[in-house]
Amino acid sequence: MNIQWYPGHMTKARRQMQEDLKLVDLIIELIDARVPLSGRNPDIEEMGRGKGRLIILNKADLADESQNRQWTDFYRQTGAEVLAADARQKASLKKIRPLVMNACRDKIRRDAARGMRNRAVRAMVCGIPNVGKSTFINSLAGRTSTKTGNRPGVTKGKQWIHLNGGLDLMDTPGILWPKFEDPEAGEKLAMIGSVSDDVVQSEELVLKLICLLQKDYPGRLEERYGIAADDSMAPADILEAVAKRRGMIGKGGIVSSERAAGMMLDEFRSGKLGRITLDRDVRIPAEKIR
Ligand code: G4P
Repeated sequence: MNIQWYPGHMTKARRQMQEDLKLVDLIIELIDARVPLSGRNPDIEEMGRGKGRLIILNKADLADESQNRQWTDFYRQTGAEVLAADARQKASLKKIRPLVMNACRDKIRRDAARGMRNRAVRAMVCGIPNVGKSTFINSLAGRTSTKTGNRPGVTKGKQWIHLNGGLDLMDTPGILWPKFEDPEAGEKLAMIGSVSDDVVQSEELVLKLICLLQKDYPGRLEERYGIAADDSMAPADILEAVAKRRGMIGKGGIVSSERAAGMMLDEFRSGKLGRITLDRDVRIPAEKIR
């Protein structure tokens, strides 16, 4: 399986983002905690050089808690402030303010030296599609919809959401496209649903997911589907067994592995298979990420 596409409109989005970044002090980068490595676009490092960095490991509620801790430490080593969060829960964003101030301490110090005190920190939220950017902005702003773009006929200019505690948030997030240099990373993004389901073959994808689960989360398939899915069992046989368990049998008694694959993907994405982190290799030296 080779998931490989870079939509043309991303070139435009990237250019727009480079322009927008000139207006901010801080980049708030959202990364899906289930794919803390595969789910980020390393271009942001280059684009955001010299800016404060706050990384939100979002959807932490769906990821493995011990992995959340390890990846939080990992990204801290790159010099960023880091918070594992569930953007739908305002309470989980309570710690944002001190982290923002910490991430921008050099700027705040420089401003103070020039006699500028209490100037708001300007920030931009960015991340790949579906990571939770709108949810995050809405939770912070305490409202239900993000305005997108400018109103027609009105002079072009950015709209800012003024938050308590000296933080101004650009109301349009920057959309980063995931990088698929590593085919495995592309597959993991498809598993979490960050790549359109039209471009992936769900059965093939689920076989890979089953493989990952057998390796890193033995026991989960048994808990959910009552199948003793140990290492010795081929993923295709596990899928077939799940289909049978769930009564997914079509005309002529043919087992529908395809339907079972769709169901398993849905159940994985909604957390019914438990909290799972697909990228687990935190041994990569942090400086390689910078
Ligand atoms: P985007 O702007 O980055 O594209 O993402 P968006 O906020 O639209 O969020 C994408 C989906 O992820 C939404 O679900 C949203 O509710 C969900 N989401 C965002 N943050 C979190 C989180 O921290 N944890 C969990 N579990 N889910 C999160 P949806 O199914 O598309 O819509 P809906 O179910 O909210 O209606």
